[in-house]
Amino acid sequence: MIEIQNVTTSFDSPTGRFTAVDDVSLHIQRGTIQGIIGFSGAGKSTLLRNINLLERPMAGRVLMDGVDLLTLSDAELRTKRHDIGMIFQHFNLLNNLTAQENVELSLKFAGIGKAERRRRAAETLEIVDLSDKARTYPAKLSGGQKQRVAIARALATEPKVLLCDEPTSAVDRGPRPRSCSTWPTLTPNSASRLWW
Ligand SMILES: Nc1ncnc2c1ncn2[C@@H]1O[C@H](COP(=O)(O)OP(=O)(O)OP(=O)(O)O)[C@@H](O)[C@H]1O
Ligand SMILES: [Mg+2]
Repeated sequence: MIEIQNVTTSFDSPTGRFTAVDDVSLHIQRGTIQGIIGFSGAGKSTLLRNINLLERPMAGRVLMDGVDLLTLSDAELRTKRHDIGMIFQHFNLLNNLTAQENVELSLKFAGIGKAERRRRAAETLEIVDLSDKARTYPAKLSGGQKQRVAIARALATEPKVLLCDEPTSAVDRGPRPRSCSTWPTLTPNSASRLWW
């Protein structure tokens, strides 16, 4: 379903060009959960961002269901991204929105109507044990709670592919087993997931 072919990503810095992802190829089958392991700074997050083109590779191809994402127009890519959810390593919540509103916003971008947005956001927040914080702003949430909102936001749209960048690193042992074990049933339409 996802094929990465000879992907290379470099960054320019005052000390010269730094290659974070160097000629990486991999193939991820539909319906599987894959992980990528590496030291801090090895390029895991960069490679993950190469898949949804939040970071466009300098070379190589990123194919999803046979379509090279690098050849899509901005509009086509926006549409394709509705199929690709992401849980960010640093949460990326909007600080001026409550937990519930953060989850609802991703559903709004996916074209879901207001009543359904409310219902799904409440449902996913319940799955990550955060119903009581639905009206709380990120500044008043703990690190693990913020991460759980980010998990709920990614799951709510039921993406075909879920990219998870250390999705439970800030979540302690309490809610972690429940939220993780519930994901597959919560996202029955998800065909493939990639995380680390
Ligand atoms: N936008 C950027 N500009 C310059 N260098 C970058 C940029 N993004 C990442 N890098 C560098 O690329 C390398 C890989 O970073 P990346 O975030 O992909 O690592 P990682 O494997 O996810 O690490 P960690 O386990 O600490 O999250 C690092 O050396 C980092 O400093
Ligand atoms: Mg990382």
